[in-house]
Amino acid sequence: MSRNGWFETVAEAQRRAKRRLPRSVYGALLAGSEKGVTYRDNTAAFSELGLAPHVAGHHAVRDLSTTVMGESISLPVLISPTGVQAVHPDGEVAVARAAANRGTIMGLSSYASKPVEEVVAANPQTFFQLYWSGSRDAIVRRMDRARAAGARGLIVTLDWSFSNGRDWGSPAIPERMTLKAMATLSPQVITRPQWLLAYARTLRIPDLTTPNLTEPGQDAPTFFGAYGEWMQTPPATWADVAWLREQWGGPFMLKGISRIDDAKRAVDAGVTAISVSNHGGNNLDSTPATIRMLPSVAEAVGGQVEIVLDGGIRRGSDVAKALALGARAVMIGRAYLWGLAANGQAGVENVLDILRGGLDSAVLGLGHASIHELGPDDLVIPPGFTRTLGAAAAVKNRPLR
Ligand SMILES: Cc1cc2nc3c(=O)[nH]c(=O)nc-3n(C[C@H](O)[C@H](O)[C@H](O)COP(=O)(O)O)c2cc1C
Repeated sequence: MSRNGWFETVAEAQRRAKRRLPRSVYGALLAGSEKGVTYRDNTAAFSELGLAPHVAGHHAVRDLSTTVMGESISLPVLISPTGVQAVHPDGEVAVARAAANRGTIMGLSSYASKPVEEVVAANPQTFFQLYWSGSRDAIVRRMDRARAAGARGLIVTLDWSFSNGRDWGSPAIPERMTLKAMATLSPQVITRPQWLLAYARTLRIPDLTTPNLTEPGQDAPTFFGAYGEWMQTPPATWADVAWLREQWGGPFMLKGISRIDDAKRAVDAGVTAISVSNHGGNNLDSTPATIRMLPSVAEAVGGQVEIVLDGGIRRGSDVAKALALGARAVMIGRAYLWGLAANGQAGVENVLDILRGGLDSAVLGLGHASIHELGPDDLVIPPGFTRTLGAAAAVKNRPLR
């Protein structure tokens, strides 16, 4: 590793995360589900798209800035919410600071390990993410807490169907990080002294609780307690989505859209933005890569809601490709988690810098002055690349259910 911890690509951040983290923590970050078909397709699909650069007439200065749900950001890359687990002692606060320093939005998972108040203090441009879990009263209390803390937007994630099992084996994650649990994990932990040292310096052990699911100061449920509540909650209907949007009353993103009939229903429910997402391949395996589904969704609802994409973004040219196919911005998950594991807050800033540099280079080569000029003409799209899901259903009546 270089002395100052700087790395040149997200692939290198991933290698360092793997070296630095205990095996089970690295496995929890890699996640994926079943055979890993979706996880792999999310990144492989970006490699199938070519770029069509110009040779002269380039612009000396390029504008990468945009807005998402009313927030001005310096580059079209947002932090996607992730339950960060035990990657780094500063967890989501470090990520939020890095995002603020690089001029972008922090997405905070309701399964995060840090209180929303601390995260908003680190980055006022925070969107709070919610699952449909628990009673309506509990859901409203969580929203109220996030609003009172100053969160500027709500992300509701609905694309989860409790898939379980991975062909490569699931990581062992303890219910609580007690000393006994640490001892059980010790053979993995002992071989990862840098990770252990980072925690030892803070005199704290990794926290596997979810403080944003209760009132400030109350005992937080464990990750597995929260997961149990979620599993037992009857799934949300489209009427519930409209109810959530009304209760929040501000900028509202529905995350997890694959199909154009769902995208149209989201428009009917009054959302501000949708994220074309398959949860990074962690959910229903064999869902196509998000970049394959984006063009059909953009064509169906692009004029009516803001569209972001998440899944498989590892370099700036991936961001350019997503924007060229109709996304306003992208969200990243694993890329910043690996950066955080590799070098804390500086590692997340490093990842955002890599994506900014790569995007700027693509915009330059493609002959544009701004990211808003990117379009399908900038790409080489192989025949059969795109996937359109839910087209037949989209033309039928769409009653709210
Ligand atoms: C370890 C891990 C935890 C995640 N936790 C959440 C979560 O709590 N809420 C959520 O909406 N999405 C969650 N996601 C999904 C991400 O927000 C995002 O959709 C996905 O990571 C994008 O794919 P990428 O990792 O290839 O960038 C998680 C993803 C990972 C890898």
